[in-house]
Amino acid sequence: MITFKEVDESAIEQLMAIETACHSHPWTLKIMSSCMGGRYFNLAAFNKNTLVGFYIGEKAGPDFTLMDICVTPSEQGKGIAKQLLRQFIEYGEQQNAENLFLEVRESNTRAIALYERAGFIEMSVRKNYYPSDNPAKNGFEDAILMGMALSLGFS
Ligand SMILES: CC(C)(COP(=O)(O)OP(=O)(O)OC[C@H]1O[C@@H](n2cnc3c(N)ncnc32)[C@H](O)[C@@H]1OP(=O)(O)O)[C@@H](O)C(=O)NCCC(=O)NCCS
Repeated sequence: MITFKEVDESAIEQLMAIETACHSHPWTLKIMSSCMGGRYFNLAAFNKNTLVGFYIGEKAGPDFTLMDICVTPSEQGKGIAKQLLRQFIEYGEQQNAENLFLEVRESNTRAIALYERAGFIEMSVRKNYYPSDNPAKNGFEDAILMGMALSLGFS
């Protein structure tokens, strides 16, 4: 059974292990550390006592941003990200957020499908936003900015 709880900096090595296993250009330890506490919030998923996934969010006034969401490769495809994302949205609703935002690589069709099914819509394209190893991309890749307006009752 998967359980969920917020974690603090003491879990940072486990978060980084998932981060580096999941992303082509993972956050550094320093960035991860800067996203603990303060205006940042998180939720981690546990299979028994093992941390298997997490999200990190940021509050900026009425806007909450999903900064990162990852599920360890061996646990992907089991609905864990869907549950994490649902709880990110519910947390925003409980905290009276007006808008939810996130950025995603245009090539990350799996994540985009996850976000669209949860009700996020494409709002803008940020050209050459991410570094890319794809030679066809000239070293960069576009970001899709997606959002959900909670205050309009779209969720
Ligand atoms: C994107 C990611 C978080 C999804 O995690 P997950 O736990 O595997 O996702 P879920 O099992 O909850 O599936 C959610 C949706 O993802 C998509 N999905 C899941 N497994 C998939 C697969 N094998 N192939 C294609 N799409 C898949 C589906 O749309 C699925 O929705 P559905 O079950 O209604 O069809 C995970 O693949 C990951 O950590 N990727 C690397 C990090 C990353 O890209 N994060 C997003 C940064 S913006």
